[in-house]
Amino acid sequence: MSEGNIFSVSKESRRFSPSDEFRAAARVKSREEYEALHRRSIDDPEGFWLEQAAQLPWFKAPTKALSWAEPHAKWFEDGVLNASVACLDRFQGTPTWQKAALIWEGEPIGNDGEPEVVTLTYAQLHARVCKLAAKLRNLGVHAGDRVAIYLGMVPEAVVAMLACARIGAVHTVVFGGFAAEALRDRIQDCGAVALITQDMSYRRGGEVKLFEAARAAASQCPTLRSVIVHLRKRENAALDDDAFARAFALEQTVVRLTSANDLPPTREHAAPAEVPAEHPLFVLYTSGSTGKPKGVLHSTAGFLLQTQLSTRYVFDLKEDDLYFCTADVGWITGHSYITYGPLQCGVTCLMFEGAPNYPKPDRLWEIVERHHATVLYTAPTAIRAFIRTGEEWPKKHDLSSLRLLGTVGEPINPEAWLWYHRVIGGERCPIVDTWWQTETGSIAITTLPGAVDAKPGSAGLPMFGYAPRIVAEDGTEVARNTGGKLILAGPWPSMLRTVWGDDERYKAQYWSEVPHVYTTGDGARQDEDGYFWIVGRIDDVLNVAGHRIGTAEVESAMVSHPAVAEAAAVGRPDDLKGQALVVFVTLKGGHEPDDAMRARLLDHVAKEIGKFARPDGLRFAAALPKTRSGKIMRRLLKDLAAGRETKGDTTTLEDLGVLAALRGAEE
Ligand code: PRX
Repeated sequence: MSEGNIFSVSKESRRFSPSDEFRAAARVKSREEYEALHRRSIDDPEGFWLEQAAQLPWFKAPTKALSWAEPHAKWFEDGVLNASVACLDRFQGTPTWQKAALIWEGEPIGNDGEPEVVTLTYAQLHARVCKLAAKLRNLGVHAGDRVAIYLGMVPEAVVAMLACARIGAVHTVVFGGFAAEALRDRIQDCGAVALITQDMSYRRGGEVKLFEAARAAASQCPTLRSVIVHLRKRENAALDDDAFARAFALEQTVVRLTSANDLPPTREHAAPAEVPAEHPLFVLYTSGSTGKPKGVLHSTAGFLLQTQLSTRYVFDLKEDDLYFCTADVGWITGHSYITYGPLQCGVTCLMFEGAPNYPKPDRLWEIVERHHATVLYTAPTAIRAFIRTGEEWPKKHDLSSLRLLGTVGEPINPEAWLWYHRVIGGERCPIVDTWWQTETGSIAITTLPGAVDAKPGSAGLPMFGYAPRIVAEDGTEVARNTGGKLILAGPWPSMLRTVWGDDERYKAQYWSEVPHVYTTGDGARQDEDGYFWIVGRIDDVLNVAGHRIGTAEVESAMVSHPAVAEAAAVGRPDDLKGQALVVFVTLKGGHEPDDAMRARLLDHVAKEIGKFARPDGLRFAAALPKTRSGKIMRRLLKDLAAGRETKGDTTTLEDLGVLAALRGAEE
């Protein structure tokens, strides 16, 4: 585990208790109550989960909770349901039907000084979902087919996910920050038959040319039969269907997401598919330790149930909450905690299109004030960026509507936690740190607000159904306050079911390192009080500004450049981003290691993967340090990147001269 991690938080011992008022109104009011619930979920999973499953609107209720043939779980196997019904139709005939499901704010500020705001009630969202579901069916998309979604932060992203779910199609959302090549790889890997994209999106005052990338990707995806385009830009929205088809000529059938010629969907075309509990709901690609991203597959009922339960308990939702999650729909947080969790709870969810600090550093606080957000869920990197710009920005706004704050995605350093608590939460809002992964599907470790104290920097205690432990290299459990590997014992309802098209990789990656348990890839310790303290990834995955990036992916993008002979990517601690990405590169003969080449190579990675993966530093090297068996010694590179003296054993290093030369290299 990295000793130089800037978030080694062992000296932090402060505790923050929820106020009596918060506790009195909370769903779970004490540690004892929490522990009783958690214990039951672990000791009697069959009873606990079957009871909880009554929360889902089944076409046919299940009679059994779990079938477990390690490492394959089936939850609620004989139940039949539909995810879009669980998020929408279930509220028909209740007051929630007329309540706002989504309040969306666009990034650009109009001439009147106001942004565009769109509110969709549950009834309106349902109507849009039915319309798109019918359109997909008319295009010949069937249950089980994969549909790629490549959109910005617009309500249509939620509509698209739910429309796929409605017809039983499997969605795969590709983050709008990914480049054409990354989109192409994902569409090809899952064999998507349709793509839902948009002309462009607004971000930090610029235009993200989604359609251009989609067009480049689609031309190399033979399985793709249809492209559906949401027209975001006013000028494009005015295009009639023919002009539109000409403007966006592609081999595939191209249709507009909504068009004046659209007929209302027939009852038959908009009807929800009745799918078994284990029917695949979505594939979401995430980085692992090889160059090829993994298609994490989630199925329907278990995912729905555990996201609903955790949204309700962790955010302690009340009828009149206005819940604001700043994550992008392209990542798991946008699936679990913008779409499926909150909508199943009937809550109003606030969604923002743009950058939190555009056009000014107080944009996020302006949004909180304008809409009276009550719950805010964001990432430590964003908080650290706000700290840098100064507390005068949030202080300009009335943030008194907030009653609960959350963080996700990376370890939060106590200083950032304390700032968030004081400046944003006015010292009155509990903060829930939430540890989880694309693979877990739902929050696994947190401090249930109202029930337990928070300790700044600690992710907290296990959520219902999760049994985390810390183990040593040999798989044996370590003593309290000793660092080790974080594992999860046993299956849980929202766990990934496999890696799309590669069950061997699923088994090898998650269920073989330590026998009979799920390996998270994170390092952590558990304190004397049972709280978990996450140190960070211990595999070849980096967490850069909350984005999960595989070092192998960056290396493979780098070596695809014709001038590069070899590349090694490593992380370096960074005050703002948590980790920064540094690449060591050796060039092929005949190429100059100069600034122009450095810029070309950095651009190349941005083009292959996406701008968010552009390395923060690049060092040219005549050779990389290797063991005698030819393995790159990453540990040495990490030390070099961090500016640390090389610690530990270098006796297996083949040529000490390589190390000396690298020390002299500049970024
Ligand atoms: O290293 C952990 C870190 O993010 C990883 C999962 O990344 P991803 O699948 O992209 O999902 C991010 C959103 C859930 C984990 O293995 N991580 C996530 N949340 C936390 C965290 N590290 C520390 N504290 C957290 N609260």
